Formats: sequence, structure tokens, C-alpha cells
Amino acid sequence: MSSLPVLPLGLCGFGTVGQGVWQHLEANRALLRARLGVDLRVTRVAVRDARRRRDFRLPRGVLGTDPLAIARDPAVPVVCELMGGTGLAREVTLAALRLGKVVVSANKALICEHGPELLATARRHGGHFLFEASVAGGIPIVKALREGLVANRFPLIYGILNGTCNYILTQMEERAAPYAEVLAEAKRLGYAEADESLDVEGWDTAHKAAVLAWLAHGVWVPTSRMIVEGITRLTPTDFRQAAALGYGIKLLAVIARDHARDELSVRVHPTLLPVGSVIARVSGVFNAVSVTGDVVGTTLYSGRGAGRDATASAVLADLADAALLLRGDRPAPAALAPAPAPSACRPAPPERIRSRYYVRLTVRDEPGVLARIASAMARHRVSIATVIQGPSERARAASLVLTTHESDERALGRTLRGLRALAAVLEDPVLLRIGDFGA
Ligand code: NAP
Ligand code: HSE
Repeated sequence: MSSLPVLPLGLCGFGTVGQGVWQHLEANRALLRARLGVDLRVTRVAVRDARRRRDFRLPRGVLGTDPLAIARDPAVPVVCELMGGTGLAREVTLAALRLGKVVVSANKALICEHGPELLATARRHGGHFLFEASVAGGIPIVKALREGLVANRFPLIYGILNGTCNYILTQMEERAAPYAEVLAEAKRLGYAEADESLDVEGWDTAHKAAVLAWLAHGVWVPTSRMIVEGITRLTPTDFRQAAALGYGIKLLAVIARDHARDELSVRVHPTLLPVGSVIARVSGVFNAVSVTGDVVGTTLYSGRGAGRDATASAVLADLADAALLLRGDRPAPAALAPAPAPSACRPAPPERIRSRYYVRLTVRDEPGVLARIASAMARHRVSIATVIQGPSERARAASLVLTTHESDERALGRTLRGLRALAAVLEDPVLLRIGDFGA
């Protein structure tokens, strides 16, 4: 038997991620012991329904239904919050941090909503809050920003941060699969959130973007200050038309900082990317993040963004840090957190968020319609670059796809309002941004 010290762990949640952590802790026990000099041992697990069938059998006495009891148990110095949600999860996290424990979290919704409170509580009580698994699944992007790129300022970070959406978009693009069918697959594979609208409406990506923005800029940007658009309005027509124009479609988070003006914009939206670009070719559940630093230049990270194994890998990385922290070998990662928000950094106004745009309209198929649309766009100085007209599924209607020259969010917002007011425009326009990131 080993004489290594044991580090008792509590798992609050034993679903996709919790079971992955258990599985890989068991499978890699010898390796982790050799690397860390500590025996990481799960001593308590809490779930909602203890009678539910699990993929792994836990030792007698480990499974319970009270996550708060784990958070408060003095015999458990490291607590993994792997339940999700922002109610009980917050209580559990705060209770453990108040006792000076290490909390490992995969819960980006919680961090986005309560990050300042959680970090302040950790600081006040000597606890530690680690959250590598909260962004981009198995990609160690938190460590990259916090440690590897600490010497940089970040004018641009963008990428695919949601595995479910990328899986759905890839399947729709490659095999014209119906949206509902692919979403059901993503749920079965353990990629989607319990409330899948968080994925497909763009909120999960926004939560992750908030975490990245804080790591990069020291500012908590609430989702109410972001543009957040999901993938639910995309149709096979959009993939076909995008392909005809030389683009693929990805749901991106874009975090852009204008250091000269001290303005920051954080946005999430489906984006047309040139088919040859690296990120356009990232498919399935994979995520990819492009980080441009003023010292390093552009760096790119890719890997599985969701699912049991990738997420467990990230949680285990934090557990390794927890082990080293509690052994005193490693400075607290909290010490490497970004500096407090520079007060001058403010949200970029919409007229400074610039892009080219793709607008799809379903319009009455009758003379003069195109002219009225062109005139509604010209009124806001939005210049049309290309027009494709095709059949619509609606009777006596046509599908119009327009792309624009570079414009800005204010002008496009006003243009859309003008288009909606036209009697000839039969459905709410679909607006997509065209990403010109140069890689
Ligand atoms: P999940 O499969 O739904 O598992 C949630 C677990 O938490 C279940 O074991 C559930 O118990 C337990 N739980 C929920 N509410 C509880 C309560 N009130 N009391 C006690 N236990 C409770 O979710 P998941 O996919 O593992 O996700 C967990 C967290 O990781 C979320 O914050 C998610 O956003 C994040 N995350 C997930 C992934 C992924 O790919 N799935 C990736 C990165 C981050 P029962 O099993 O009894 O219902
Ligand atoms: N639902 C999330 C996704 C899980 O699909 O990316 C990983 O955070």
C-alpha cells in the first residue's frame, strides 16, 4: 500500500463531468500519484437522485444527496462543483470558500453571474477558486491566459467556445442534418447543458466569453452588455448561400479591445468565416480559440470543447493544482489573476464595432422590392456588395441574400428596423456577421 498522503475530494455532481472525473482519476491513479506525490481520493459524492443508475459503482458510504454537507465537511479540503446552475451551486461554492477550501468548478454560468463575489470570498477566507473546465472543455485556455501569456495585452481573442453548437453546425453543413435531430444527438453525447437553450441561444458562449474577458482584461462584462445571438435561426439556405460565397458558418465569441481608446467589446454570434481559414475547419465538438497578444502575436488553441473526457481532463488539471497548492509547492493561482479593472476601460459603442454583414430576407416576389430594400439600406449608408436571389419555401415569395461592404452595428441595427417596416419583407431578417480576422 502507498504511504503517500491522501487528498480527500468531494464531488458535488456525478453526471457527465463528475463521472468523467471519477473514471479518469481511477484510470490514471498511478500516473497522478507519481506526478503529484499525493493520492487524490474521492471520499464524498452528492447527487440529486441517489437511486439513479450510474456508469460507475461508488464505494459504500461515498454517495449522498447533500452537496452543502460536502462543502462544510472539515474532512474534505477540495470540493468540485459539477452540478451546474446558479442557485445551490453558488451556495455550495461560497460555503466551501468561506472555510478556506479549494473549489474546482466547471460552471461558467455561475462564474459569469457571480465571479466577483466568488473570487472576493476566496481571497477573504484564504480559499482558492479554480475553473479551467469552465471554458473550452479540455483546452487549457485559462492557464494559457493566466500564466503562459501573462506578459501580454490582448487586442483580440475570438473563437468557437461551445461544443454543442459546433457539433450541430458541422452536421447541418456537412450532411444537411435536421437541427432537432442533431441537437438530440449532442444531448445524448453529454455535450449540451441541462437547459440546452443556453447552448443554442448563445448564452453558454457568452458566459465563457465573460470568463475570458475577465482573464484577459480584468473586467467583468455582464451578458447584458454583449451582443448575444445563437444559432436557432440558421437554415440549410444559409449554409448553401454561405458556401456559394466561399464561407462556412461558426458560432463565435469575439473579445476585442481597443487599447488606444480603452474600449472593449464582447459579442457572440454566428459568423461567416472563409472556408480556408483554420477556425472554419474546426468541426464537431471541437472548440478553437485564437488569442492575439501584443508581445507574442497570434496563438491558436484547439481541442474537444465538451463531453465527459475532455472536461474531466480540465477538472483534473485543477485538482493537480489543488494538490500542489495544499502541499505548498505552488503559488496560489489566484495570485496570477488579472489586475483589477482599469477604470478607463468601457464598452465600445456600436458604431465602433465594424464588420461586413450577410442579410437574408424573405420578400414578396414582385417588381420594385429590390429597389425598396436597397433604398432602406442606403438610408443608413450601408453599401451592398453582393445580391443573390433564389426561391423561397413560401408561396409568391423569394429568398434574398445580400452581403454588405464594411459597416457597423449601429447602422445595421437601424437598417434592420427599416427593413422590418417594409410590407414586402415577410419574415424577420436573418443577420450574420462576416469575420475578417485574417487567419
Ligand atoms: P449533468 O450531467 O446534468 O450532471 C449534473 C450532476 O449534478 C448530476 O449528477 C445531478 O444529480 C447533480 N445535481 C444537480 N442538481 C443537484 C442538486 N440540487 N443536489 C445534488 N446534486 C445535484 O451535468 P454535466 O454535463 O456534468 O455538467 C455539470 C457542470 O459542468 C455544469 O456547470 C456544466 O455547465 C459544466 N460543464 C459541462 C460540460 C459537458 O461537456 N457536459 C463541459 C464543461 C462544463 P443526478 O445525477 O441525480 O440528477
Ligand atoms: N454545453 C457546453 C458545450 C459544455 O457544448 O460547449 C462545455 O462547456
